[in-house]
Amino acid sequence: MLEQFCLRKDRPRYRVVDIGCGSGLLAQTARDLGFVYLGIDNDPGRIEYSRETYGDAPRVTFLAENCVLGSFEIGERDIVILNGAAHHLSDTQMKTLLAKISLCAGMIIADHLKVDQGHPLHAFLPSVLQTLDFGDFVRPFRYFEALWGFTLRDSEAFPIDLASITLWTYFCNLYYPAAGRRETHENS
Ligand SMILES: C[S@@+](CC[C@H](N)C(=O)[O-])C[C@H]1O[C@@H](n2cnc3c(N)ncnc32)[C@H](O)[C@@H]1O
Repeated sequence: MLEQFCLRKDRPRYRVVDIGCGSGLLAQTARDLGFVYLGIDNDPGRIEYSRETYGDAPRVTFLAENCVLGSFEIGERDIVILNGAAHHLSDTQMKTLLAKISLCAGMIIADHLKVDQGHPLHAFLPSVLQTLDFGDFVRPFRYFEALWGFTLRDSEAFPIDLASITLWTYFCNLYYPAAGRRETHENS
């Protein structure tokens, strides 16, 4: 989805803001695709590891901050990504974050597809793994279909496998700021 976001020639003008970047796995991909990259995580140890691994050069930077309280600013050249991070944020934190990033160019959320409670055997392994992943806020997919201030444009689901066993299923959603908000911003 990131690749399709804009033409290759325009990518150096866009910044990928990776919220809850962990050990910065996405930094290399974003850099290879031609984007500027900012990774944000509230775990200083992971940020230190990311800086050592990917450098902290002008086009790749890392910030040790809480994404809800942090001082970073998001503008219309920012593509915000929450890869496995939304299930660490409460509804209140999600709403605060969505307001904070409402002027972004677009947002990609990849997270757990909540297991179907109607198939307990099928759901057992994913639900245990989701719990171990500290997924306090693993939510039903409908939560992500209507996010405050954003319009869902594209969605796909894919399994995360280990040795051909599906550990869990992830979704990846692409959003744009809701038209009204974007017009308001452009006209201001
Ligand atoms: C499951 S990991 C995903 C890491 C990375 N995005 C990946 O896909 O490999 C979730 C990350 O979100 C970070 N995180 C949780 N709450 C956060 C917050 N309020 N602000 C910033 N980062 C947060 C955690 O420290 C952790 O590194």
